[in-house]
Amino acid sequence: MSGTPGRFITLEGGEGVGKSTQARLLQEALKTRGINALLTREPGGSGGAEAIRELLLGGDDERWNIRTEALLFAAARADHVRRTIKPALAVGRWVICDRFIDSSRAYQGGAGLIGDDDIMTLHQFGCRNLMPDRTILLTLSIDEATERVRRRDGENHDRIARRPEDYHLEVASFFLTIAQAEPKRVKTVDASGVVEDVAGRVLTAIADLF
Ligand code: TMP
Repeated sequence: MSGTPGRFITLEGGEGVGKSTQARLLQEALKTRGINALLTREPGGSGGAEAIRELLLGGDDERWNIRTEALLFAAARADHVRRTIKPALAVGRWVICDRFIDSSRAYQGGAGLIGDDDIMTLHQFGCRNLMPDRTILLTLSIDEATERVRRRDGENHDRIARRPEDYHLEVASFFLTIAQAEPKRVKTVDASGVVEDVAGRVLTAIADLF
């Protein structure tokens, strides 16, 4: 058991902004400070949630309607919180999570038109409203993000990533709305430029948590 309380940090943003790379670099940076953080992701991060990830991201475009999709994300998150995140925080461990509730708020609530209230009602039911101590919102122009995704995945996009550009612009806009509404929790970080510079900005954005 660590002497300091565990912190729950999430990384958010659209496709191709570099969340996974920055999550890994943050884990390494914390290690140099003697903090052994758990790195996890959504959808996924527990056995059940990884199984739901396959259902959510595979298959054809019309596989789920947006309400079913929101329920599946909420179900995956409930399993992930109960089996992975809560037990780690309970023993004082830091947790870094690549996407969390703000992704549901932006992708299903905002761009998917379900609305924030219903998404948060699902979060209350599934996760008793667990919120991160800090959320890093990585921002990048849609052109740069699209180019990074193309280099990484080629034409091999998952069911949600291949939605039209308008949908992804709405997602980006809802993320910014959340950041403006919750400035203490959500810090916006410019994700352009070299990864080491972005990693430095991420560290600055969590500095008050140490
Ligand atoms: P990624 O984490 O590899 O980017 O893939 C996850 C995809 O799922 C991505 O397109 C964002 C989407 N997503 C949602 O639509 N809602 C959610 O709540 C989460 C966690 C992810």
